[in-house]
Amino acid sequence: MTRVVGLTGVTKRYPGGVTALDGVDLAIEEGELVGIVGPSGSGKSTLLHIVGTLDRPTSGSVEIAGFDVAALSDRELSALRARHVGFVFQAFHLVPGVSALDNVAEGLLYSGLPRAVRRRRAAEALERVGLADRARHRPHELSGGQKQRVAIARAVVGDPELLLADEPTGALDSASGESVMQLLHDLSAAGSTIAVITHDLEVAAQLPRRVRLRDGAVVEDVLGSVPPPVRGGAAAAGPPAGAAEGCGSTGGSGPAGAAGGSGTAGGWSGTAGGPGTAGGWSGTASGPGTANEPRTTGGPGTANGPRMTGGPPWPPQGRVPDDAWTGA
Ligand SMILES: Nc1ncnc2c1ncn2[C@@H]1O[C@H](COP(=O)(O)OP(=O)(O)OP(=O)(O)O)[C@@H](O)[C@H]1O
Ligand SMILES: [Mg+2]
Repeated sequence: MTRVVGLTGVTKRYPGGVTALDGVDLAIEEGELVGIVGPSGSGKSTLLHIVGTLDRPTSGSVEIAGFDVAALSDRELSALRARHVGFVFQAFHLVPGVSALDNVAEGLLYSGLPRAVRRRRAAEALERVGLADRARHRPHELSGGQKQRVAIARAVVGDPELLLADEPTGALDSASGESVMQLLHDLSAAGSTIAVITHDLEVAAQLPRRVRLRDGAVVEDVLGSVPPPVRGGAAAAGPPAGAAEGCGSTGGSGPAGAAGGSGTAGGWSGTAGGPGTAGGWSGTASGPGTANEPRTTGGPGTANGPRMTGGPPWPPQGRVPDDAWTGA
């Protein structure tokens, strides 16, 4: 398994004394779909910018797609970014007055490919996001959800190793937001490595791994999609009822175990992407594996790797605080 992101002891201090990140260790392996959650100001966007090499840390090391960021000049960093990283932002950042096709083709501007090839690839990317029939529309002729799909097409048109999304559903109504998240899950199932910041409780719960920040530090890093907690102590054992629906698995065999592609109605059972994790959602508190086993950041393995098997029972005893899925 290839490590796409490796952060060690990353600290970011802004002028004026704000410590936005404080000793963050984070490893993301190829094929993972990771949610970044945490309260406003906790450092999520700062983290994403550093992972995306838009910004450099004050201290600590950052390795992206095998490159040590500190060893690269700004120019080399731009090249690394252009080739290996795709970004999606809450506010879309499409070029106004320019067709969806050309907005997507812009994602290949620094690829060295001829314009005709860029446009052909852009058309294919638009098809991937289900917008082939809107290629000639300009941003103001698209709905919010469609704009975000165009932005995602632009981000993935160059087949980056890493797709980073900062609140991609933040400006969308819930239906459009769902379809954008579905698209991210589909891209993940097809092999993309994705980190997505979200405040949305349900969105976060459906991601196979969540990293929670508070005051610039990783305070939790859990595996396995889980539904929102039931307050008051109910649903103490086994995956709660919504699990099958949310994770595309029924009968307790487990979405993670089905990863690699049973492709059920949920459409994203393949997102966990790999072997292993059998029984991770066994449906019993004593089953092997765990739906949300806390993991050590920076460690080996992946969200879907063998580490999940043999983990502590579900739910983890007292290790997931109540606000774990609230983004708080
Ligand atoms: N350019 C900057 N200069 C100074 N301080 C900054 C800068 N950018 C962010 N900060 C501070 O760093 C901290 C982390 O900000 P960041 O944008 O990463 O938070 P966030 O978790 O993304 O929040 P939100 O959910 O509101 O987007 C905040 O306290 C913020 O005020
Ligand atoms: Mg932010």
